[in-house]
Amino acid sequence: MATVNQEAAAEAKTGMAGQPVLRSAFQRSVAAYWNAEQDPVNIRLGEVDGLFHHHYGIGDYDPAVLDGPKDLREQAIITEMHRLESAQAELLLDHFGPVAGDDYLLDAGSGRGGTSFMASQRFGCHVDGVSISETQVEFARAQAEQRGVADRVRFHFRNMLDTGLPAKSRQVIWTNETTMYVDLGDLYREFARLLPNGGRYVCITGCYNDLTGGRSRAVSQIDQHYTCNIHSRGRYFKALAESGFVPISVIDLTPDTIPYWELRAQSSVATGIEHAFLTAYREGSFHYLLIAADYVGR
Ligand SMILES: C[S@@+](CC[C@H](N)C(=O)[O-])C[C@H]1O[C@@H](n2cnc3c(N)ncnc32)[C@H](O)[C@@H]1O
Repeated sequence: MATVNQEAAAEAKTGMAGQPVLRSAFQRSVAAYWNAEQDPVNIRLGEVDGLFHHHYGIGDYDPAVLDGPKDLREQAIITEMHRLESAQAELLLDHFGPVAGDDYLLDAGSGRGGTSFMASQRFGCHVDGVSISETQVEFARAQAEQRGVADRVRFHFRNMLDTGLPAKSRQVIWTNETTMYVDLGDLYREFARLLPNGGRYVCITGCYNDLTGGRSRAVSQIDQHYTCNIHSRGRYFKALAESGFVPISVIDLTPDTIPYWELRAQSSVATGIEHAFLTAYREGSFHYLLIAADYVGR
């Protein structure tokens, strides 16, 4: 059996089945973005407890973090933002349904691995994370080694549109803020292949409001900032239905994420995109949505 390092070397060269992992100029630009990304808003928050997230937070923040002396205030804000980002991931995991220790899960677009480690810790299960950023995959693999879970939580330089994983091999698949990088039809066809009947898909994403008629200026600014292509709310449900997924929970997290952005806007790690998020959420052109769906295709 190939070691994790041998597998890593093979995947780094060719991806799955000898096909290149990055198959379009767009995917190459997304990968380049994430390979270069070193934003303190991700790194410094991850250093709080070793769980590195690339997603946003939910829940009210403790206003006391803004009151402390300057030297303590900054770290208090960072710790609080990290708490809200981990709360977001906990909510995602709450929607997985029953997961056994010998189940295999897929973290599609796994970033630096934070949510994968939380899932494995909570359920004792196996997790495969895939990302088109080689830098992130290397980082997450090192984290898995450090945590002593490299045999259960494995990261791959692979495309979530074509994972190469065996058919019906997953009990749960999730996407935590990754669907805006891909065509949803292609994505859910691949997930339908990977899940057995009754398998669960859980998504947290930003999406634009069909009712406001296309992307608002603020939503376009977010697309531009992250080199992504935010989909409409309606597109999610259409693409899910076309691939045999039936939603069981849909939660509008927009009111729950606004405090996170308000806190982030006041932090030393603000990136400049906070205003666009706050505008988009407050004007109603953008939602932060959780969707949990069962696969009932066959
Ligand atoms: C905003 S980050 C989210 C990371 C992670 N889900 C989290 O919550 O921390 C987006 C991730 O999607 C990945 N990604 C984008 N397009 C992808 C694709 N076609 N296949 C696999 N990963 C992709 C990026 O490499 C990056 O890791």
